[in-house]
Formats: sequence, C-alpha cells, structure tokens
Amino acid sequence: MFILNYSCSAPTEQPAVSETNVNDTIFSPPDTSTIPDDDFGAMVRYGRDLIVNTAYYIGPEGVAGHYLGNKMNCNNCHMDAGTRPYGLNYFSTHARYPQYRGRENKILTLAERVNNCIERPHLGKPLPLDSKEMVAITSYMKWLGSNVPVGQRVKGDNGVELQYPEGAADPRNGESVYAQHCASCHGPTGAGVMDPWNKTYTYPPLWGMQSYEAGSSMHRVLKMARFVKANMPHLKANWKNPVLTDKEAIDVAAFVNDDRIHARPVVRPEEAGYPNIKTKPIDYDKGPYADPFTEEQHKFGPYQPIIDYHKKKGLPIVF
Ligand code: HEC
Ligand code: HEC
Repeated sequence: MFILNYSCSAPTEQPAVSETNVNDTIFSPPDTSTIPDDDFGAMVRYGRDLIVNTAYYIGPEGVAGHYLGNKMNCNNCHMDAGTRPYGLNYFSTHARYPQYRGRENKILTLAERVNNCIERPHLGKPLPLDSKEMVAITSYMKWLGSNVPVGQRVKGDNGVELQYPEGAADPRNGESVYAQHCASCHGPTGAGVMDPWNKTYTYPPLWGMQSYEAGSSMHRVLKMARFVKANMPHLKANWKNPVLTDKEAIDVAAFVNDDRIHARPVVRPEEAGYPNIKTKPIDYDKGPYADPFTEEQHKFGPYQPIIDYHKKKGLPIVF
C-alpha cells in the first residue's frame, strides 16, 4: 500500500516513505549465482521457482498441492521473478512487513500478505503458514531484499507516477489502445493464451472467469495503469521507454477493468474488507467511502478532485 501525505489514519499505520527520500539509483537485487549453497539457499531457489512456475506447483492441478483457483503465475504480474524495476517487484517487500493493511484493518505478516494474493487475484485458498512452500516464498523475498534496510523503500520498488487526465478515464479510447497494443498477445476476448500442455499461460488473461478477481489490486484502474505504462506491451515497454502515454495507460486499464463490458470473478462477500473506510484506495470501486464521491468517480476519475478533497479534510490518500 502506498500512502501520500500521510496525515490521519488508523493509529498503527506505518508512516509512508515516498520515492523522494530514497537513494537516486534503481535498486539492483543480488544475482541468483550468489544464492548460498546451504539449506537456506535451497529454500530461496524453491521460492523463486514457485514465483515463476506457481501453477505447476500449487495451481488447480499442482504437484505440491492444490491452492490456486486459476492457472496464473505470480510472475505474470510480479515480473522477472519479482526483480523488474517498476514491475511489481519484491525488492523491499520483506523489509516492510509486518505492516498495517487497510483491507483487514490489522497488522499482517509477510506470509499473510502472500496469502492475500493467493486468495485474490488467484481465487485460491491460503497456503498453511508453516508449509514448505510459504517458507520458500518468504525466504526468496528475504534473500532478494537482503540489502534493503528494514522498513525502507528503494528506488524502483513501486509503480511509476502518472499524470492524471483532467476528465474521467475513457474506456472507449481504451478499447482502441487495446486493439492496437494488447490484443495480439492477450487476445481479442482478453482470455489470454494457454501453453500447449494446458498447464499455465503463454499470455495471461486480462478478463473472463479465469482472470484476476474484482477487488484485487490489478482491478484498480490507477494501480493497473501504473503497471501497464512501465511494462506493457511486453518486451517493448519498460519504465525508461514506455510505449503508452499516461492517458492511454489509464484508458486501457479502464477498458480492461470495466465491469459493464467484461465479466470476471466477483469479490467474495467475506473479502469485502476495509472496515475502516478511510483506508480505502482512491481508485477502489466499491463504497462506502469517507468522502462524497461516487463509486463511478472513484473507479474512472476524474481523480484529482478526490485527492484534493482528501488533502483538505486531512484524510489519508491511499493508492
Ligand atoms: C494479477 C496480478 C497478480 C498476481 C498474479 C499476483 N499478484 Fe501479488 N500483487 C499484485 C499487485 C497489483 C500488488 C500490489 C498491491 C499494492 O500495491 O497494494 C501485489 C502485492 C503483493 C505483495 C505485497 C508486496 C509489497 O511489497 O507490499 C506480495 C507479498 C505479493 N503480491 C505476493 C504474490 C505472490 C506470492 C503471488 C503468487 C502466488 C502473487 N502475488 C500473484 C498483483 C498480483
Ligand atoms: C508481446 C505480447 C504482449 C503484449 C503485446 C501485451 N502483453 Fe501484457 N503480458 C504479456 C505477458 C507474457 C505477460 C506475463 C509476463 C510474465 O509472465 O513474464 C503479461 C502480463 C500482463 C498483465 C499482468 C498479468 C495479467 O494477466 O493480469 C497485465 C495487466 C497486462 N499484461 C496488460 C497488458 C496491456 C494492457 C497491454 C497493452 C497495452 C499488454 N498487456 C500487451 C504479454 C503481452
């Protein structure tokens, strides 16, 4: 969770460390050749393998247990095994947990946070906290961030910043962006492309019942737009050389995540979350909110008036 202008929130909220007060060079994670040749190193290696080949190990037909409800891999979003700058990496993840989380309104351990992603977007059931797989995943994250000071952020560990358009996001324009820049891989129906063995995806889905759930972070327009701007189209765009403009990234995220056009698994009622509504992200599309703006405006914008209102009232601004 990324909080700007931290002012008032749950008393246990960790103060935000913004990108402006971190070192100027992009964090560079250790090379895999430096993974130690001991028991810890074996867990780190297995953890990395689980991030990349998640469906193979713990997917619906997984060889190490059936936990995920879909065949996506962590790596589809946490790209390059969680080592890609501005690609939802795990650089500082281990250093920042346990951490207050607004959805649960409590402090979560890193293992509990991993289970959040297994439950949603993966539609799964939680890994036992003491399972070999959970220990492996958190060991890998610890190794990856071993040079990050406890509690800190590092440059490149968050999404890129976007300039918000004055008006609302435009899903119709997003549809043309999608046809031009995305459909060749993710498919005209957004269903992605399975590998020839039907084990996982060559190109992961963006909507439909096999895709990520509503209410997961990727379902938020700004969160997704920040990811897409720095990473998609795959193999062409990176944070230094994006292909899409900020507006195109926001519009295509609005198109993909528009529930009036596209079906996807719905939020399970027990997962609605945010008992303290002040901690809801600005672009979360289900009320109630601590401000008077509609669900539609929270989802599609214009976002700036919401941000200005939060500033004025001293409400947290969460992304
Ligand atoms: C559909 C995309 C997607 C998939 C697949 C996915 N995640 Fe995530 N995950 C996200 C997003 C987006 C965030 C950022 C949430 C935020 O910033 O609040 C996130 C956040 C996290 C975090 C917290 C990171 C931090 O630094 O605070 C952890 C840990 C995590 N995911 C683990 C996993 C694991 C393990 C898997 C595979 C089992 C997985 N995720 C699969 C999208 C995904
Ligand atoms: C050249 C093929 C290609 C193109 C074009 C492309 N993607 Fe992707 N996309 C991928 C692949 C492959 C992944 C998974 C990355 C991995 O596992 O390493 C991915 C992952 C994603 C994800 C996270 C995983 C998921 O399925 O939710 C999103 C969101 C996404 N792409 C959106 C887009 C958007 C929006 C566009 C157009 C602007 C786009 N992509 C264009 C290949 C592509």
